[in-house]
Amino acid sequence: MTDVTQPEVETAELLSGQEIRTFSFEFCQSLLLQKFAKDLAAIGGPQAPGVRAKANSAAIELNASFTRHQRELLAAYSDGQISVLIFEGLQKINDVSPPNELPVLASLENHYDVLCLAARNQILLNLVDNSAFAYDMDNEGKLVRLVANFKGGGLNKIPTELDIKELSSHSGLALGPHTEAPYWCAVNAKDGHSPSPSSLILSALWNPGMEPTSVIPIPPVLEKIGVKNCLALTTGNFQFTRSDSFVSGKGEDGHNVSILEFDDKVGFTARFNSYRFSVNDNASDLVKSAFVALCQKVGESAPVEHTLTQESAMVINNVRALHCRDLIKDNRRVLVRLFGLSKFSSPIVITDDPLRLQG
Ligand SMILES: [Fe+2]
Repeated sequence: MTDVTQPEVETAELLSGQEIRTFSFEFCQSLLLQKFAKDLAAIGGPQAPGVRAKANSAAIELNASFTRHQRELLAAYSDGQISVLIFEGLQKINDVSPPNELPVLASLENHYDVLCLAARNQILLNLVDNSAFAYDMDNEGKLVRLVANFKGGGLNKIPTELDIKELSSHSGLALGPHTEAPYWCAVNAKDGHSPSPSSLILSALWNPGMEPTSVIPIPPVLEKIGVKNCLALTTGNFQFTRSDSFVSGKGEDGHNVSILEFDDKVGFTARFNSYRFSVNDNASDLVKSAFVALCQKVGESAPVEHTLTQESAMVINNVRALHCRDLIKDNRRVLVRLFGLSKFSSPIVITDDPLRLQG
């Protein structure tokens, strides 16, 4: 008996420790990636028509230079089997120190270095069979999201800071564990809503305080709460509040959604936000206690931290991992974020190039 069960136990332990993997670029490979990113930035980056196809071609060309081990890592992420893939060994975009104050959003959005990082993220998404996209009702419909303290909320006040802080990536407030909105469904479009982002990818333009990005893989949390609670979380007994990053007048609170969903292709998917989700008042006691157990175990989980710079990027599997952060201390910290749509996802497409989905 021992002979039969022992390897399975070891495999399970090994797998739970492999939720976060690192892909190391060799020098020649990262030079090639840099060249492609600069070419795409020169014609406008991810938002420009035609860049989608070029980013895909760049990924195909890069792929030809990868080793078997590198390809296996990309495939594991592409197949939805790991929570996070960290890309290391990337080239610096620009060595110049950040300015003394955070520039305004409009000037940064068209900054060549930002377009380079965004284009590089788009190619990296393609390497794991994800396509960069935007929702119509989020981030003004734009593919590139700059994560920085544009609206204050960090440790140090900015001159234009309002009393009420936005709970979004445009302010520096600490954010509890969450997956990215929208939360209606995770893989297949439902009731006129596209699924949640399959992935988000982040890199840093500036991170002078070396402030980390934190991730909590969900599989170990589900193992801790057990089968009965997991099943209760698949019922449509939960609600969420509207996100602050949505376009004014668009997006809404949601009702009667599940947190977990079984999916034929990826096994399970999750949607959760510790500061926006709640359980319906009329849910059963079993469902209510499952929600409490989930919140408790998420709260007890020690996040895995990674400090982003220009030389790294992290792609987070948004249906398998939560992310969170502490209060941002340095107002000059700027991350460049893109959403990715996996090969499994069936969204409602509004425009193909650039890819824009109905949220
Ligand atoms: Fe987030």
